[in-house]
Amino acid sequence: MTNRLFDPLTIRGVTLPNRIAMSPMTRGFSPNGVPGANVAEYYARRAAGGVGLIITEAVGVDHPAALGDAGLGEDHIPVLHGKAALDGWKTVVDAVHAHGAKIIPQLWHQGAMRLPGTGPFPDVPVMTPSGTWGPLGRTTSILASKIPSDSKVGAPMTEDDIEAVLDAFVRCAANAVAIGFDGIAIHGGHGYLIDNFLWEETNLRDDRWGGDRTRRSAFPKELVRRIRAAIGPDLPIFFRFSDWKQQDFRARLAQNPEELAEVLCPLAEAGVDVFDASVRYFDKAAYPESQMNLAGWAKKVTGKMSMAVGGIGVNKGMFDGDKGVATRDNIGLLVARFERGEFDLVAAGRVLIGDPRWPQRLSRQEQPDPFDPATLDRLY
Ligand SMILES: Cc1cc2nc3c(=O)[nH]c(=O)nc-3n(C[C@H](O)[C@H](O)[C@H](O)COP(=O)(O)O)c2cc1C
Repeated sequence: MTNRLFDPLTIRGVTLPNRIAMSPMTRGFSPNGVPGANVAEYYARRAAGGVGLIITEAVGVDHPAALGDAGLGEDHIPVLHGKAALDGWKTVVDAVHAHGAKIIPQLWHQGAMRLPGTGPFPDVPVMTPSGTWGPLGRTTSILASKIPSDSKVGAPMTEDDIEAVLDAFVRCAANAVAIGFDGIAIHGGHGYLIDNFLWEETNLRDDRWGGDRTRRSAFPKELVRRIRAAIGPDLPIFFRFSDWKQQDFRARLAQNPEELAEVLCPLAEAGVDVFDASVRYFDKAAYPESQMNLAGWAKKVTGKMSMAVGGIGVNKGMFDGDKGVATRDNIGLLVARFERGEFDLVAAGRVLIGDPRWPQRLSRQEQPDPFDPATLDRLY
């Protein structure tokens, strides 16, 4: 029944051995930003277990305001610049390739979510398009102690700031492909910097980087355009976006497919190949007119490929509590949607932390290991 998930997929010049991706998951096991042998083993174990594409945990770009504590006490986040980190990542890439899987890094700038005074450059101010964290008092899972008391967290980014951040992303993308990564993933969701440009509550600009939906896509569009120019035509670019923000779980970038097209089509034109629509439940309809999920609509409105994620193989969505997260057999539902052509890839998150051999077991129709939330705290 699940065979077609195991068909190869060619995106530009790269052929993935199957349609199962590992969703990007921050783990924080890279002291000083450098992934060590334990990180290489962790990813290689998933490649050996049958994952076709690994999207790494979010990796901080080479900009002083990119990284810090983003509300969950993040630390030991990897980077993609400097010899030590690049040597570390090269070992990871080679270890994953040895098992036939592909691997791309997720490039990250925390933007409004970085807590002031944290990260490798604590004195550098928080950087956001309009100096605002977003509206206070919305539904969020962030600890109250980590929500700013004032939504004004900095000054609006200047043209020089914008240029510096664009450069940082491009440098890291170039570094990544130079050491053998198979493409680039961009973190454009969850309330971080790129999403701060996309969301009307955090982008209040009236220059060329703000305005209506299409204009709020100008920054990510320029970012994608420059990354495409830097990495050439043969490697895929994945773009993650989300309606929900950590500042506001109920936020929407678009209320209907027409609005979604306004957000995503500029990015498709600039060179995105796969839209990674981050939702917490893959089987949730995005808009009332059909059962189709957000990945389905991203594919339909852009004509590009898309990837579904959220609650695959587990009974609870991310942020719906770590306690009581258990295995759930919803693969039949997933495959039915996939076979209808709703999306092209599926991204598994927590099941792959719990059971590195999950794809292999799926292909053999064996039961996965029962999900154990304790696995989220260690690197195996
Ligand atoms: C421990 C953990 C860390 C995560 N870190 C990231 C991240 O660095 N970047 C990202 O885009 N999403 C991150 N996510 C979200 C996952 O990529 C995924 O979208 C989410 O867990 C839903 O998939 P699942 O239900 O299969 O776990 C993280 C999720 C978890 C559980």
